[in-house]
Amino acid sequence: MVALIDRASASQPGRPLRRLTIQTVDVVTDTTTLRSLDWDRDRFDIEFALENGTTYNSFLIRGEKIALVDTSHEKFRQLYLDALQGLINPADIDYLIISHTEPDHSGLVKDVLQLNPEITVVGAKVAIQFLEELVHQPFKRQVVKNGDRLDLGNGHELEFVAAPNLHWPDTIFTFDHKTQTLYTCDAFGMHFCDDHTYDEDLELLEHDYRYYYDCLMAPNARSVLAALKRMAALPEITTIATGHGPLLRHNLKELVGRYQEWSQTQAKAATTVGIFYVAEYGYSDQIAQAIANGITKTGVLVELMDLRVADPQEVRELVETSTGLVIGMSPQLGDFAANAKAGLSTIFAATTAKQSVGLFEAGGGDDESVYPIRNQFQEIGLTEVFPPIQIKELPSEATYQLCAEAGTDLGQWLTRDRTVKQMKSLDGELDKALGRLSGGLYIITAKKGDISSAMLASWVSQASFEPLGITIAVAKDRAIESFMHLGDRFVLNVLEEGNYQMLTKHFLRRFAPGADRFADVKTYPATNGSPILADSLAYIECEVVSRMECSDHWIVYSTINAGRVAKSEALTAVHHRKVGNHY
Ligand code: FEO
Repeated sequence: MVALIDRASASQPGRPLRRLTIQTVDVVTDTTTLRSLDWDRDRFDIEFALENGTTYNSFLIRGEKIALVDTSHEKFRQLYLDALQGLINPADIDYLIISHTEPDHSGLVKDVLQLNPEITVVGAKVAIQFLEELVHQPFKRQVVKNGDRLDLGNGHELEFVAAPNLHWPDTIFTFDHKTQTLYTCDAFGMHFCDDHTYDEDLELLEHDYRYYYDCLMAPNARSVLAALKRMAALPEITTIATGHGPLLRHNLKELVGRYQEWSQTQAKAATTVGIFYVAEYGYSDQIAQAIANGITKTGVLVELMDLRVADPQEVRELVETSTGLVIGMSPQLGDFAANAKAGLSTIFAATTAKQSVGLFEAGGGDDESVYPIRNQFQEIGLTEVFPPIQIKELPSEATYQLCAEAGTDLGQWLTRDRTVKQMKSLDGELDKALGRLSGGLYIITAKKGDISSAMLASWVSQASFEPLGITIAVAKDRAIESFMHLGDRFVLNVLEEGNYQMLTKHFLRRFAPGADRFADVKTYPATNGSPILADSLAYIECEVVSRMECSDHWIVYSTINAGRVAKSEALTAVHHRKVGNHY
């Protein structure tokens, strides 16, 4: 059964209508999904620039007893509740399984409980604790641990799998032994919205799947590996019922394998940064994730720890294994303030002068002041890698760009010895031979919404005639990398022989996180919106079509939309190198 209900939600003047629809589909035996399709959502957490909307998936399992797995975002209230009541009388639901309490999945728990206050809510201990904060009303509950089972009858024996930190400490997976279906909420999901219930077209989905992993799961790579190990102990899984995007069935093994491979790569890192924050307070989730994203680009492992519920032993262990610490300010009052304060005391007790630190405000209106905490770290002797990030107004794209760049600065600082070692590790003759590869000199410039970036590039080559296309190799830790995903547009500015030093000197500077790369540089806008450097010899407008991962670089293939030469007789600046172990 597939049912689609279209509804245009209220739009702001001048903005297109935003479509919200519900899809209900029978997916496996006795099981129906209610997929809330948010077609036009263009931002999720942090820097997710959603290209393809998103979905919030909920599931109804009918054994002798009936269980609902997760709900939906509150923006779907009427649509979701109508669809649910079209499928079942809510009074007949016995269990509501909470995979994770973030409001995109638990935003309608209160409403479902109002329809049937007798439902038993099933979740991890922490999930139940968070839910009490969310619904503010008494409810029946059943706390489950890894390996616990719940028999719905008719063969639907549910087994729970602890999957903490994917991506809050409250997460559980649920495995239905009858249908061999694993319900995973955020894990293995993607922000992708279309009518297809399943993952038939891998090529269509893989970029979003990877982007979602990089933003949400890579900062918890060790926790992903722990969850994969628990999944491996289950009987064969034939369907993964995710909380976002299509359900995985056609490419399940391939996509699970990719999580394994990517997480193993992350977890191999010799350097760890512990990020301590209070989730659901102010903008702490988004800021912590943006910083984490910037750090993971440098090949440093990140572990996020939510101080709402972290126990002192966990905090101490993470501080002791981390060479860098990032700490978000916690609220001074409220239910979790005492635990957060205790966590901070443990951090101070366990930290040493050899570590580096960065601090951020959460912007929750009741933040601990950042300065006494900063002073305390300075007294212990820690190196502050970026100045405290302060939230004075509603965070914008520029705020999240600043956070990501601060994270990258921290990662690069912590791995500076590795970089020097790599530069020295090449055999001398090979190094010189490789150095004879030369390229031109270019500046890539890009603008997305209100944020912009630029990078000096020399690994650039024409790659196709029809359509006209070029490739550019971009190191994974470059800020411009975030501006070169599929569909992004940028400008390649070609520098002129004998007239490039001023521009290369400017763009080779180390910019502070969030700094305007174009201050004091003459530019004018290209038709794709990116800045053209007025002093460049030529410019080419490009659109990213595909990306290939090559160890520490992305090879970005782009097609050409327009271009122009300023001086037809002038030549391109050439970059001659002596050695091949750096640019
Ligand atoms: Fe999709 Fe972490 O919520």
